[in-house]
Amino acid sequence: MVIEKILVLDFGGQYNQLIARRVREQNVYAEILPYTAGIDRIREGNYKGIIFTGGPNSVYDESSPRYSRDILELGIPVLGICYGAQLMAYLLGGTVTSAPSSEYGKTDIKLFTDSKLFNNVTADNTCWMSHTDYISEPPKGFSVTGYTSNCPCAAMENPDLGFYAVQFHPEVNHTPQGPVMLHNFLYEICGCLGDWVMASFVEESISALREKIGDKKVLCAMSGGVDSSVAALMIHKAVGKQLTCVFVDHGLLRKNEGDDVERVFKGEFDMNLIRVNCQPRFMKRLAGISDPETKRKIIGEEFIRVFEEEALKIGEVDYLVQGTIYPDVIESGVGDAAVIKSHHNVGGLPKDIAFKGLIEPLRDLFKDEVRKAGLEMGIPEDLVWRQPFPGPGLAIRIMGEVTEHKLAILRDADYIFREEIKKAGIARDINQYFAVLTNVRSVGVMGDGRTYDYMLALRGVTTSDFMTADFARIPYDVLDICSRRIVNEVGHINRIVYDITSKPPATIEWE
Ligand code: XMP
Repeated sequence: MVIEKILVLDFGGQYNQLIARRVREQNVYAEILPYTAGIDRIREGNYKGIIFTGGPNSVYDESSPRYSRDILELGIPVLGICYGAQLMAYLLGGTVTSAPSSEYGKTDIKLFTDSKLFNNVTADNTCWMSHTDYISEPPKGFSVTGYTSNCPCAAMENPDLGFYAVQFHPEVNHTPQGPVMLHNFLYEICGCLGDWVMASFVEESISALREKIGDKKVLCAMSGGVDSSVAALMIHKAVGKQLTCVFVDHGLLRKNEGDDVERVFKGEFDMNLIRVNCQPRFMKRLAGISDPETKRKIIGEEFIRVFEEEALKIGEVDYLVQGTIYPDVIESGVGDAAVIKSHHNVGGLPKDIAFKGLIEPLRDLFKDEVRKAGLEMGIPEDLVWRQPFPGPGLAIRIMGEVTEHKLAILRDADYIFREEIKKAGIARDINQYFAVLTNVRSVGVMGDGRTYDYMLALRGVTTSDFMTADFARIPYDVLDICSRRIVNEVGHINRIVYDITSKPPATIEWE
């Protein structure tokens, strides 16, 4: 079956990924390419429609990202957004002018609802604007279909050519009827049928994997994280016991985590999973080490060594599985706009294992889609909604030397914190939250006695990409319960602080 696709042509806008996700939410597959992608590649993509993204530039700047007019001669409908709208006007002979001041934020807009793009949209509406330049004269053959008090051409179109453009951002929540407009573009203008549904994606991926793998052997390093778990399960569903998963339990996981992973994947899904319990080995190598980077390096190296040793026991394998997801593979042709994940999972690719190829079943999915795929295949919600957890585990949440004793304290404290966040019903609002055992000891009083014990830090952040983050506004009452419970139920902690720094300047993890 040929999947219908929309191309999101990236001109450096901060919302490029969001546009693609919004399209996919309408059950149409969207792909992002940089504006440097060649015309032949675009032609071969057989796209049902093209969306030009926004971007920070002005079309008249020499260095602005542009595309040649060829793209408008493919006979494919195009929706230009913000800079993309101005570029469309510019390429077709309209005029773009720089306004003396920018129009930014929620803005009232008047829309002409006889436009196909604004079908079922209210005429007096609100949209999100973020621009300085504006289209002062649409190209010949275009008509204006929307305006604001500052922007005489906030929307324009030439329906005969299938070209539509909006100065505002339909992809952000601040444009409440943006989803209706995108729906109109996809279904009324591009003629999409909407066959991108997670259930069928999972089904098709499994049968494609089955065909690709044949009777070959596959190996997967499972970390217990969402991506590697979903990837592994998909392959398990395709080829069953031909897949071997090696789960390196370095002893730096959260409370019960190793057992949960084993119970679900080995117990419930009957996966061929080898749990390698190698806690002593890691502890031995970490003894006396307190420098964060050295800890990370040791764990990374040791992890790969264990994995390689296990793989050698299994014998020859043909394929290695990687949990790469779409944001990791989006090509960036535009400065830093397309954010590439800064951290890679512990280990990277093993050097000493010979394999014919890599299998990356999640290459086309965004994180929320990976979760949906996981749920679709029956992975429990708790596991699917697991927060990101760094490869080096709790070792980088214990300041200074890692010892069994400190690990036990941190595991219990972290467990209580997470439990209370869940109980308060705010777990999905905070993207990552955890406890950190500092190396600071301070004086306290408990009962009638003086204590001299550890200070624990709690960290909670809200973020969409983990590159920048804000500290989460956890209600005081919730922090209060956490503080009381941790001090009472976990030994050796007599002081608790909440981290109120954003990223930057702080990072999310403490080491
Ligand atoms: P920072 O601390 O750099 O973390 O603000 C950003 C995000 O990355 C996670 N993180 C890691 N993930 N291996 C990983 O797989 C690592 O070494 C690593 N270090 C940090 C961190 O938990 C946060 O989500």
